[in-house]
Amino acid sequence: MGFLRVSIVLALWTVAVSGVTVQDYFPTLENNVTQIRWAHAVNNQKFLNNTLYNDAINMIEGDVVFGTLTSDTKTKLPIMAHPPNDTSDLSLADFLAQVLKYDTNENYNATYKGVKLDFKSIEALTSYLAFSNIKTYTDAFPIWINADIFNGPDNGVATVDAKAFFTAVKSVANTSLSLGWATGYNTTNPNITAYDSDQTKQMSDAITENDVSVPITFAVRAVYAAESIESLTGLLKIHDNSTLTIWSSDGDKVNVTNLRSLIFAVGLDKTFIDVPDDLLSQLNLDDTSGASLIKMSWVSLLTALVLFFRNVRYN
Ligand SMILES: *[C@@H]1O[C@H](CO)[C@@H](O)[C@H](O)[C@H]1NC(C)=O
Ligand SMILES: *[C@@H]1O[C@H](CO)[C@@H](O)[C@H](O)[C@H]1NC(C)=O
Ligand SMILES: *[C@@H]1O[C@H](CO)[C@@H](O)[C@H](O)[C@H]1NC(C)=O
Ligand SMILES: *[C@@H]1O[C@H](CO)[C@@H](O)[C@H](O)[C@H]1NC(C)=O
Ligand SMILES: *[C@@H]1O[C@H](CO)[C@@H](O)[C@H](O)[C@H]1NC(C)=O
Ligand SMILES: *[C@@H]1O[C@H](CO)[C@@H](O)[C@H](O)[C@H]1NC(C)=O
Ligand SMILES: *[C@@H]1O[C@H](CO)[C@@H](O)[C@H](O)[C@H]1NC(C)=O
Ligand SMILES: *[C@@H]1O[C@H](CO)[C@@H](O)[C@H](O)[C@H]1NC(C)=O
Ligand SMILES: *[C@@H]1O[C@H](CO)[C@@H](O)[C@H](O)[C@H]1NC(C)=O
Repeated sequence: MGFLRVSIVLALWTVAVSGVTVQDYFPTLENNVTQIRWAHAVNNQKFLNNTLYNDAINMIEGDVVFGTLTSDTKTKLPIMAHPPNDTSDLSLADFLAQVLKYDTNENYNATYKGVKLDFKSIEALTSYLAFSNIKTYTDAFPIWINADIFNGPDNGVATVDAKAFFTAVKSVANTSLSLGWATGYNTTNPNITAYDSDQTKQMSDAITENDVSVPITFAVRAVYAAESIESLTGLLKIHDNSTLTIWSSDGDKVNVTNLRSLIFAVGLDKTFIDVPDDLLSQLNLDDTSGASLIKMSWVSLLTALVLFFRNVRYN
């Protein structure tokens, strides 16, 4: 019995198609995914309203906590909030329903939205995975499931156990995974270290052991990623089609030169950038000097083609 069940689960896991990917959803941007624009920490109704109707935004990032709504402080459910907060005026179910309504309303002539959900606990994740209408969402728009499953730089302590995470997400194979390491950061006296090779190996081994076949992105904090070119490019090489997502907190002291080197080493087609605007402008991604010439000539060629077809379509 046990064996049969395991076999069926494994079979489903292997054949499952991977839902809507971000690259499929924004095809004109797929050769340079650094163009995809993010709204970060969209954890309340007002911010969600503003984000949905902001045509500059492609991806909405929000944090999910197992907590309570301000309107009902008794019932626990997955809500949009960032710890230490555990109440919100917006539940995860409401958040997803509103994105679905927005993305499927043909009367809008606007930018569709994809979603990245940063789950802050295993309870938040498993209660999302138990939504009876989850397939309606995963079939309609890209949803990344993110969690910090391993300890990371500056004594970060994982918020979701890796084993429990991979077991949980197997029930909904049709979705992309965003895998991260927890990070610490001392704003008065930052301890700027790197994602070391032990940390990337731990991640890599877990992916292999769990036979992950859905698209993977590695979520890394800019300030530490900038110091980790070797370990991160190594990790991406091991896992076919995996990508990097660079995020940052306001005020992090990022070495911009090194971060640019990382982005061009990984490639503009494989690096999502969800950072505050001031860091984004400092990255100066128009300037390709210092980037690998061979890689760039391909990217330029593809971009020229994309721009060409885009013009054809719009004119
Ligand atoms: C995965 O998503 C696609 C649409 O993107 C859908 O056609 C398919 O039925 C889904 N598969 C599963 C197992 O949910
Ligand atoms: C969000 O938008 C809806 C519909 O447009 C509106 O009814 C609601 O009052 C808005 N909420 C906030 C907090 O702005
Ligand atoms: C907690 O909620 C308050 C009020 O909504 C907000 O101002 C604050 O930024 C939130 N804290 C975090 C860590 O998100
Ligand atoms: C819809 O968007 C296209 C392309 O940006 C624009 O040319 C067109 O005027 C828009 N139509 C409406 C009704 O806003
Ligand atoms: C700095 O971070 C490293 C790991 O990234 C950790 O081993 C070390 O203890 C930290 N140093 C201090 C002073 O916290
Ligand atoms: C941050 O660094 C300062 C100065 O070294 C230290 O006094 C403080 O305790 C540190 N804060 C944390 C949370 O580690
Ligand atoms: C990687 O992408 C290529 C092209 O889209 C595809 O043929 C291949 O199966 C993918 N590999 C994995 C492991 O997903
Ligand atoms: C960034 O790192 C490089 C090489 O590690 C170093 O030479 C440079 O001084 C650093 N830049 C800043 C602003 O710290
Ligand atoms: C890629 O996108 C960035 C915006 O994020 C832009 O500055 C850069 O010029 C683009 N590069 C290419 C080669 O398309």
